[in-house]
Amino acid sequence: MTKIAVFASGQGSNLQALIDASAKGELPARIELVVSDRRGCYALTRAEEAAIETLVLSPADYESRSQYEAIILEKLLELQIEYLVLAGFMRLIGPTLLAPYPERIINIHPSLLPLFPGKDAIGQALAAEVTETGVTIHYVDEGMDTGPIIAQERISVNPGEDRRSLEGRIHALEHHLYPKVLKQIFTGGNANGKTRTN
Ligand code: GAR
Repeated sequence: MTKIAVFASGQGSNLQALIDASAKGELPARIELVVSDRRGCYALTRAEEAAIETLVLSPADYESRSQYEAIILEKLLELQIEYLVLAGFMRLIGPTLLAPYPERIINIHPSLLPLFPGKDAIGQALAAEVTETGVTIHYVDEGMDTGPIIAQERISVNPGEDRRSLEGRIHALEHHLYPKVLKQIFTGGNANGKTRTN
């Protein structure tokens, strides 16, 4: 069983999908820890309901990112965490965490990267009036949604589709794709037939 920590800042619907997949035996991983940068976010409630340990740190309380990340790293090492899984964690990861976890930090993003990185990718896609968008799962590097792509899945944007509808369909896709691709990674398979780019 791969030991993972899930990082989340918001609603935590992807965290919930991972908790459920793990409970059903569809994801060969144990979520040992949920890390959040936002006190009171709903992802933390989901973690507590699933009896998962939480670590909540407010970056504003630390002098630097490396100081903040060093506290997280200490906990990750104590729990022997093997992979960091970002699920709506809206903060860049720095060298303090990247160095000890090379190609072991994974993120999900609601667009076909490199299109629409950063915040509100779904709103960006709608504003650009694209006819298709999707979901990307990638290894994390120091950039904003820029690391090597592991898997992508596309969906059409329906004519006149509103944000609520598109967001719902993208989230449903994420909840299905993330456990599936993580399973392939943890069992040594090659997600979506793509090869790593480094
Ligand atoms: C998800 O759509 C995820 O892909 C996105 O935040 C949402 C979190 O939803 N992540 C990013 O935009 C990362 N750049 P959730 O809290 O319900 O899982």
